[in-house]
Amino acid sequence: MLKLDAVTVRFGGLTALSDVSLHLRKGEILGLVGPNGAGKTTLFNTISGLVRPRGRIAFNGTDISRLPLHRRARLGIGRTFQIPQPMQHLSVRENLAVAQVFGAGRYDPERIDEILAVMELSPKADADAATALALQELKRLEIAKALATEPKLLLLDEVLAGLESNAKRAFMLKLRELKALFDLTIVIVEHDIETISELCTRAVVLNFGQLIADGTPTEVFNNPAVVESYTGTADA
Ligand SMILES: Nc1ncnc2c1ncn2[C@@H]1O[C@H](COP(=O)(O)OP(=O)(O)OP(=O)(O)O)[C@@H](O)[C@H]1O
Ligand SMILES: [Mg+2]
Repeated sequence: MLKLDAVTVRFGGLTALSDVSLHLRKGEILGLVGPNGAGKTTLFNTISGLVRPRGRIAFNGTDISRLPLHRRARLGIGRTFQIPQPMQHLSVRENLAVAQVFGAGRYDPERIDEILAVMELSPKADADAATALALQELKRLEIAKALATEPKLLLLDEVLAGLESNAKRAFMLKLRELKALFDLTIVIVEHDIETISELCTRAVVLNFGQLIADGTPTEVFNNPAVVESYTGTADA
């Protein structure tokens, strides 16, 4: 579904992504892990079109490397942002409508109602999105906005971070439900190894912009290079 071929991103003298190649298959839930500053968000920015890399990105056989953000959204690439960014002065429902027009090129109020219901935001539909939501509701809105763009591939940047364990468990079940309901392929950035092991069919690790491991969560978290990237020593 998604193929990255030798993707490199430099910011001035800093190499944020270094020669990253990755093949994502339809229906996978891929965990993207790595220390702070490893390049995880940059990888999402590169796939969604906010950052121009060297190398090639193909989505369902189409070379999207040169396509602008909205064209990639129309092809079915949706994403959340690490820091939720609802549009100011708009209601929850209006935020979803704007996202839908941007990503899907149409306005379909029934689909928006469906997303509000599944994300348990219906009671807040007319609330001011920027001021009237608790943190958990903001996180659900961030996902709802991505769903409103009608993605086939959903990139989730630390949507589970900061949740206590019961809330995290509920959220994981919700992600599984969304995957089935909307026929999604998912990439999720998440630091917690247990969460990745439970949720994901596959995991990859970035370290200083390089992809250092790729496999099942068990394989990846037992890989000495991965242990070293997390702890600074292979025998820790
Ligand atoms: N627009 C930018 N301009 C310059 N440097 C950037 C830019 N975006 C990211 N960086 C740098 O690129 C590196 C990778 O950042 P990135 O945000 O992708 O890391 P991350 O893996 O998402 O980290 P975290 O776990 O903290 O979210 C960091 O050193 C960061 O400071
Ligand atoms: Mg990040």
